[in-house]
Amino acid sequence: MSPNPHQTIHTGGLTALEQELALASFGSGAHDLAQTRGMLVGDDAQASPHGADAAAQAVSKAAATLDAVEAAIADAAHAATAAHAADTSSAAWNGADAGHDYPSASHSGAHAPAADPRAPHTPPPGYDPANPHLAAWNAHLASVRARNALALPLRGCGRLTRAAGLVLEAVGLRLAVGAEVMIELPPGSSLPMAEAEVVGFAGDKLFLMPTTEVAGLLPGARVWPLESAPIADPMSGAKRLPVGWGLLGRVLDASGRPLDGLGALNAEADAPLTAPVINPLNREPIHKVLDVGVRAINALLTVGRGQRMGLFAGSGVGKSVLLGTMARATSAEVIVIGLIGERGREVKEFIEQILGVEGLARSVVVAAPADVSPLLRMQAAAYTTTLAEYFRDQGKHVLLLMDSLTRYAMAQREIALAIGEPPATKGYPPSVFAKLPALVERTGNGPEGGGSITAFYTVLTEGDDQQDPIADSARAILDGHIVLSRTLAEAGHYPAIDIEASISRAMTALIDEPHLNRTRAFKQMLSRYQRNRDLINVGAYVSGRDAVLDRAIALYPRIEAFLQQGFRETANYEQSVEMLGALIGNAQGNGQGART
Ligand SMILES: Nc1ncnc2c1ncn2[C@@H]1O[C@H](COP(=O)(O)OP(=O)(O)OP(=O)(O)O)[C@@H](O)[C@H]1O
Ligand SMILES: [Mg+2]
Repeated sequence: MSPNPHQTIHTGGLTALEQELALASFGSGAHDLAQTRGMLVGDDAQASPHGADAAAQAVSKAAATLDAVEAAIADAAHAATAAHAADTSSAAWNGADAGHDYPSASHSGAHAPAADPRAPHTPPPGYDPANPHLAAWNAHLASVRARNALALPLRGCGRLTRAAGLVLEAVGLRLAVGAEVMIELPPGSSLPMAEAEVVGFAGDKLFLMPTTEVAGLLPGARVWPLESAPIADPMSGAKRLPVGWGLLGRVLDASGRPLDGLGALNAEADAPLTAPVINPLNREPIHKVLDVGVRAINALLTVGRGQRMGLFAGSGVGKSVLLGTMARATSAEVIVIGLIGERGREVKEFIEQILGVEGLARSVVVAAPADVSPLLRMQAAAYTTTLAEYFRDQGKHVLLLMDSLTRYAMAQREIALAIGEPPATKGYPPSVFAKLPALVERTGNGPEGGGSITAFYTVLTEGDDQQDPIADSARAILDGHIVLSRTLAEAGHYPAIDIEASISRAMTALIDEPHLNRTRAFKQMLSRYQRNRDLINVGAYVSGRDAVLDRAIALYPRIEAFLQQGFRETANYEQSVEMLGALIGNAQGNGQGART
């Protein structure tokens, strides 16, 4: 029998083989149907008695199953306890009625076809609803559809084949990089399932990196994909984390779960961890000053709204204190702080002692200390940026403080090396140098008239080595850098900003001419003094030889006092500029014309 509906099939025209096939397809039900409707019976059965019997026997089991399923559907439709099954089957019926706009002989039977309502059929040419043969097909299809509707969706799972170092390998799944999976853990483990993310693949092997504890993982453990993204909206399946005004004053982990024990989050929305690239021509230029509350920066290294700065320093020279001061004293409306890869103890210390209650009140802190998975450390950096983007998109001026960018790069290095990327400069694989600008470019100004994200990223210069590859790369992608000097810190000069080595590239567009002249004069004096410091100290310099140096020597105590700022002291932009004017003199104007 040919299932081609274009052909009108007459019983008498069936060959023996076609009859066998028809019977094999419809089972004994078809046989009965044919008998009662005068189809296939009589001469057909006689023409091929052996074929018909064999087929009828072979399929009678299948037909019984089908009947059972149909009975189950009918039961389920009426059973209050089987609500889900009832829903599914009745949906199938409704769908069938909506989907079939042509009369079907099978409607006279007990079962209706469960056509997909989204794809309504149109009768093909030559379709004859009265043809019992087609009616039998329809009836059969209807029961198969109904059975399908009851079946649970299949969820494929893969198997773990290797766990070495940070990376796990699984086979049997075809998932995109970035997809999340769950891995079964043996009973009695602290977690029922371990979570992991696909970080790469090779042939049919997937490389997974766990984001939770994996102690107890067994060879061959099953790996299930989490819900994958529907094709229509690829972003809808991406990981989304909470954002909103309710998060102010809260301390969260890399997955947006509260760490502060203050109860559930009052998040308004959730947002994906990645953001579309902003067209550089649509970004508002940096032309307004952001008050950061630190005198030396406000006056000599003025930062604009939407500027991205690096804070370059070795360990223990006052990065955290400086960031804390900015968070407490800035004129930005919202502060988002990412503590990435630092010591766990430092997180508490930073929040309680440096940031304080007033600083925290208008901040959101995301913390991923050094002991969490490198994936989570990277995720925390992305989440911090997502939070800042949310507030910027609401028209707010945001200050993003990330401590540290180096630890973010190190996390990416751990992942990349673990999945076999070759190391390049100082063990950093090339992907690290691609990830840094991708993260940093998300901050900055939005479109004209909107909000801004001014960002400070700390960059660790191990052994105070300014040539570290991450420091080098960061210097190239940021709009300025503030260098903290160990020599100054050791001398008790805080904040230990090395003014000569630091620069704010947006500064000339932010401040007026008199202010600019004063900063030049200040830096000149400072630099002249530093270069001659030894001569001056041993008394080898005779005053009168160099007018600038003479002035620098005279002003040096005031210069030092200007640059130093106590732990709890804050200095707003106006005060800072005024103080600079008072120090350098009024010859070049009063410097109050900056665009704030
Ligand atoms: N403005 C300041 N006034 C007085 N002391 C300061 C100031 N800034 C920093 N310090 C001192 O420097 C110490 C180290 O500062 P901080 O913790 O900020 O350094 P860090 O660079 O963040 O260190 P780490 O590399 O360990 O994170 C502080 O404990 C404090 O004693
Ligand atoms: Mg610190």
